Amino acid sequence: MVAVAAWLTLFVVGVRHDVAVTGTRLGKGANVDLCAALERTAAFPRLRYMGSKYRLVPQLAEVFAELGGHTALDAFSGSGVVSYLLKSLGYQVTSNDFLTFPTVIARATVVNQSVRLARDDIELICGPPSDDRDFIQRTFDGLYFTADDRQFLDSAWSHIDNLPCYKRALAISALVLAAARKQPRGVFTFTDLRYDDGRRDLRLPLRDHFRERSVAYNRIVFSAGGPNYVLCGDVSEIPPGGYDLVYLDPPYAPPRDDNDYIKRYHFLEGLSAYWRGQKIMEETRTKKLEKRYTPFAYKRTIVEALRQTFKQFKDSTIVLSYSSNAVPDAKTIEGLLREVKNEVEVRPIDYKYSFGTHAAAQRRAVSEYLFIGR
Ligand SMILES: C[S@@+](CC[C@H](N)C(=O)[O-])C[C@H]1O[C@@H](n2cnc3c(N)ncnc32)[C@H](O)[C@@H]1O
Repeated sequence: MVAVAAWLTLFVVGVRHDVAVTGTRLGKGANVDLCAALERTAAFPRLRYMGSKYRLVPQLAEVFAELGGHTALDAFSGSGVVSYLLKSLGYQVTSNDFLTFPTVIARATVVNQSVRLARDDIELICGPPSDDRDFIQRTFDGLYFTADDRQFLDSAWSHIDNLPCYKRALAISALVLAAARKQPRGVFTFTDLRYDDGRRDLRLPLRDHFRERSVAYNRIVFSAGGPNYVLCGDVSEIPPGGYDLVYLDPPYAPPRDDNDYIKRYHFLEGLSAYWRGQKIMEETRTKKLEKRYTPFAYKRTIVEALRQTFKQFKDSTIVLSYSSNAVPDAKTIEGLLREVKNEVEVRPIDYKYSFGTHAAAQRRAVSEYLFIGR
């Protein structure tokens, strides 16, 4: 509860607050300061991402600290905030997602321990292009952003292509976040100016967004003292052994609407690789990428997908996030977890959950649960 108060203070009031939280034993017997980990995670640059557990960080931190262990897998990393929390708590983290841009963000913030973009790097990326590439200008003309913004994205990539590993990951993360912030609601399901309420994020040129986001990512780079890892693939392909803790936050099938990440974030996914190796569906109005199949998105396949995933990680402590407006219901999930775990605990957490692209889905009160299988 104390940790929750600290987190809310950090965000709602925006000032640092001294909260007495005693050290918690984690990992190799190290004393971890929960408050310090929360404060660090509060600075994680915020990507508006469907199902992000940003608001649940205090509750997750308390559970992770209580469970302890040394190695952790965040199997559906998304925005990266939970992987970064695990790193801040002292875990050796492996972060995975089957989309590219979440794994680039994890490489920049979780795997990277010390590299930052120098002021000169940022100015080079914001300066004149180093070649005459124009893929983004040609492909997305009239669809997203201004002509200057699209020119900047091509130009930025002409420099990013020459950067070494972690600088590249930092620059791409900043570019992705810049594009997400400038797009109304952060989703690319429409190309007109609906939802444009004139706020600063929508007016700021992408070049200036990029400068600000680069500084924000630079600020959160820190060394955890040991290596962390990133994987980009389907959860079913992750070798299961060796994780003390496995955090699962799959994309549940909602009763209405859908949970297609590519439909919403295709531009960010393309941008993170300069659309290399990705296929644009040319006939679509939004120039989106092909849908990425996941069994977790469908009512008829999610139960078996969860069963297999629990089985895969049966030797680890499993923490599963689940919201009550999803399919299947909580009882079914509990039963599935009990197939592989003797001790199953369900912790309800009430909070406002925000996602969706239209008014009806925009803000719903749902109950969030954590399932813990030991
Ligand atoms: C609910 S989001 C995770 C949110 C994340 N915990 C956060 O706080 O931002 C689910 C993620 O799972 C990924 N995903 C969906 N199906 C997957 C699969 N079969 N294997 C790996 N990742 C998958 C999606 O790309 C998405 O980023």
